[in-house]
Amino acid sequence: MNFSKLKKLISSNNLGDEIFVFDKVSSTNEVLDSLYEEGRIKHGAVVISDSQTSGRGRSERIWISPSGVNLYISLLIIPDIESANIPIFTFLSSCALKDTFSEFGMDSDIKWPNDILVSGKKISGVLTELKHSSKFNKNYLIIGIGVNINITKEFINKEMNEISNKVTSMKIELGSDIDREKFTAKLINNLDHYYEEFRQHGTIKILDSWLSKWNMVGQFIRVSVDDRLYKGVVEKVDENGFLYLRTDNNKIERIISGDMIF
Ligand code: BTN
Repeated sequence: MNFSKLKKLISSNNLGDEIFVFDKVSSTNEVLDSLYEEGRIKHGAVVISDSQTSGRGRSERIWISPSGVNLYISLLIIPDIESANIPIFTFLSSCALKDTFSEFGMDSDIKWPNDILVSGKKISGVLTELKHSSKFNKNYLIIGIGVNINITKEFINKEMNEISNKVTSMKIELGSDIDREKFTAKLINNLDHYYEEFRQHGTIKILDSWLSKWNMVGQFIRVSVDDRLYKGVVEKVDENGFLYLRTDNNKIERIISGDMIF
């Protein structure tokens, strides 16, 4: 990732003032965490790496992070989070991702709670972590985003085994290499836009934007949560991130997180 090219393309007011670009890290979420605890970064700081040796996904999963082809990015959010619901930041990120894909001519779908799919396959995931610093006596939030940009079908087939047919990339979908700096800058600009909306209008505005992009209300879905499977029609998602499903026996199930199965 070319730092100066990226910097020139960023036009945000809030997020991305400070950007750190690395060749290889354990996980961008971890590096951002350490930089904050060391007192070296402020709200809005961004860490990007060309590769990760211990990229992490939701539910202790591994995020396969080959070098030089994808985006691995983490952002630090400090103000206002005490007053907000944490899932709102995952929703905010999904909105920004969907807009960014659309700027590259790609239609994408949001999969509750935190995935982005293209043609029914995963192209991006968000890992939002709330932390507390005893040193600064403050809560802070790390938003980690992984995007499959130029990873090839051959790599996916070779390295991702049983999930290989559930994963795609921008290159696979669009048929050519994507400019990673351009994508990253647009994503940061869009994240900044939604963050500004959140600051001015609060969580409800983000939930509304997210719901208008989600379009699953009224659909019959299945959600696996640990070893339970919930089936029902989507009633709503609330500002705390809970999914409400109306099951066959007309009961409402309230689910905080799980894997939607199509
Ligand atoms: C998921 O879909 O389970 C979330 C995946 C999040 C991956 C990103 S890559 C950048 C950041 N660093 C990590 O270790 N994880 C997130």
